[in-house]
Amino acid sequence: MNFKEQIAQGIPTEIPVKRAYPANANKAPKRKDILSIEEKQLAIRNALRYFPENWHEELASEFAEELKEFGRIYMYRFKPDYKIHARSISEYPAKTSQAAALMLMIQNNLDPAVAQHPEELITYGGNGAVFQNWAQYLLVMHYLSIMTDEQTLHLYSGHPMGLFPSSKNAPRVIVSNGMMIPNYSQPDDWEKFNALGVTQYGQMTAGSFMYIGPQGIVHGTTITVMNAFRKILSKGETPAGKIFLTAGLGGMSGAQPKAGNIAGCITIAAEVNSKAATKRHEQGWVDVLIDNMDELLSRVRQAQATNEVVSIAYIGNIVEIWERFDVENIHIHVGSDQTSLHIPWTGGYYPIDISYEESNRLIREEPAIFKNKVQETLRRHAAAINNHTAKGTYFFDYGNAFLLEASRAGADVMADNKIDFRYASYVQDILGPMCFDYGFGPFRWVCASGKPEDLDATDNIAAAVLQEIMENSPEEIQLQMQDNITWIKDAKKNKMVVGSQARILYADAEGRTKIAEAFNNAIAAGKIGPVVLGRDHHDVSGTDSPYRETSNIYDGSKFTADMAIHNVIGDSFRGATWVSIHNGGGVGWGEVMNGGFGMLLDGTKEAEARLKSMLFYDVNNGIARRSWARNDEAIFAIKREMERSPTLKVTLPNLVKDELLNDLF
Ligand SMILES: NC(=O)c1ccc[n+]([C@@H]2O[C@H](COP(=O)([O-])OP(=O)(O)OC[C@H]3O[C@@H](n4cnc5c(N)ncnc54)[C@H](O)[C@@H]3O)[C@@H](O)[C@H]2O)c1
Repeated sequence: MNFKEQIAQGIPTEIPVKRAYPANANKAPKRKDILSIEEKQLAIRNALRYFPENWHEELASEFAEELKEFGRIYMYRFKPDYKIHARSISEYPAKTSQAAALMLMIQNNLDPAVAQHPEELITYGGNGAVFQNWAQYLLVMHYLSIMTDEQTLHLYSGHPMGLFPSSKNAPRVIVSNGMMIPNYSQPDDWEKFNALGVTQYGQMTAGSFMYIGPQGIVHGTTITVMNAFRKILSKGETPAGKIFLTAGLGGMSGAQPKAGNIAGCITIAAEVNSKAATKRHEQGWVDVLIDNMDELLSRVRQAQATNEVVSIAYIGNIVEIWERFDVENIHIHVGSDQTSLHIPWTGGYYPIDISYEESNRLIREEPAIFKNKVQETLRRHAAAINNHTAKGTYFFDYGNAFLLEASRAGADVMADNKIDFRYASYVQDILGPMCFDYGFGPFRWVCASGKPEDLDATDNIAAAVLQEIMENSPEEIQLQMQDNITWIKDAKKNKMVVGSQARILYADAEGRTKIAEAFNNAIAAGKIGPVVLGRDHHDVSGTDSPYRETSNIYDGSKFTADMAIHNVIGDSFRGATWVSIHNGGGVGWGEVMNGGFGMLLDGTKEAEARLKSMLFYDVNNGIARRSWARNDEAIFAIKREMERSPTLKVTLPNLVKDELLNDLF
């Protein structure tokens, strides 16, 4: 059977033979054994409903074994033999190119070069699932191969409920992941219902088929580091010769040195795990590897003296650097931290003065002692940072729960009001007011032909469009425009394509729409093949997350999720090819509602109408909400949009004077 026939077949007619687990695969962590005996029986019954009864006896014991061994039923036996990666859109068997685009994006998210645990259908973040099991994958590909442009496929946490009649203007696929009744949305609930096979954690772009590898995180981190420097530099000053100190060279944190190099500063990233540091060095993501403090001091002084742009990995504990640089009076201009403090007791954060190996032993054998050591280190960590900030260092929390865990450890990190932290997070101080409130966010596209020359052409188109927009853009957004033009011009040089021919580019509503329109025109003129548009969920409108994306909302509404829900519904009837809405993503289940979309541009007039309608809403929904929350930048942006678009009428807030409130209660 060839590739197209295998895709079209779905669940095979003959039971496939049992497969051995591939020797070199990066296996997903074993999940909690959380089900009772009755619940385990229910999980097996649930899994077997995908298959004919005469296979049940053979599969039941195998699935029970998987559940016992891994805490989940992945149905490894049903993983297809063909290579899974983003092929050209023309290679997929489909009646509509929209369905073929979805197959391409799904296969990209499961490509072993892209996905973290491909055998378990996990794209990133340890638990960001595309599907719960291989039966769901097979069935989805089958449905996509037969669907017409008058049908919609509904996915419940990876499970294809079926194809339903709809219309040409409807999305081809509706995705929901991890949606729960709120009172049943605690972490252990997720473990339980995922093990039962009735829900999954889709992270952000894993379960919505829009992941594009490390490029996304590099761009976001670059924007953050550049703007962090802008907060402290005077006009005309550059980051050259100035220090950005941080920790972590892991999954996301590994992007920091590359971003620092693009921003043009001296980056020092501490990493306790020498393997992680060496890997990043070998990959070319960090320039210099140092494991000795004296050497670090002299290398940093040398870089400062020559205004060198360089990134240094220090193999050791971050606290050593904060403390020693204080003693040596080395000024740190910008400081942050990306250790994994969202999981402090299981290896996310390593204590000082204990070896990496000994720490790992303590985690397993003496967890209470380990916890004490972590908290002691956090107190020292915060104290050293406080010494530096007293001397002028700008420190921000990078959404990794550093300030939260430091406060729980009794460190001196609270503001005078004893409610807030004394330092802001990267969204409160940087991404929120400087990007999201103006509508700038992580727009992205994939060239569905799979041709690198198409990606080059789209880069050039996007750069030209931004250049033109910048000529007439107001002072308030000139810097953002310039950063994005610089990024897109250097994008190819930064060599970050892994998997599909994809590009990320921060842009606002005007930029996204005009770039997409120019792509559609180029497709119509036969200059490039079809293009899939999308974005990260970590954006202006898609995500309600009180301690991250919406942490700079101060009217009390940051604990509501109306914006994300309106976004997914609003996008769905304005022309998205697919939409998704997830409970959980980045900060954990129950902590965030987030959604995204995909849209195929095929060069038609219909595609032009769709992109104009949907991209406009997809960004301005969030600006409207941010403006209602009284954020100045968003009020500016939405008023400007209303001037440009007479049919947009947004409710604006009336501001209240402080004096009026002071004596009321
Ligand atoms: N990059 C972003 O845009 C972004 C956004 C939001 C949140 N985050 C958060 O950043 C954190 C890091 O993410 P990740 O994917 O890189 O995790 P990761 O676990 O892969 O990497 C963290 C690294 O920190 C190292 N480390 C731990 N304690 C240390 C110490 N005391 N000194 C020096 N190194 C130490 C670990 O060895 C590990 O390699 C997470 O909490 C994530 O949620 C990142």
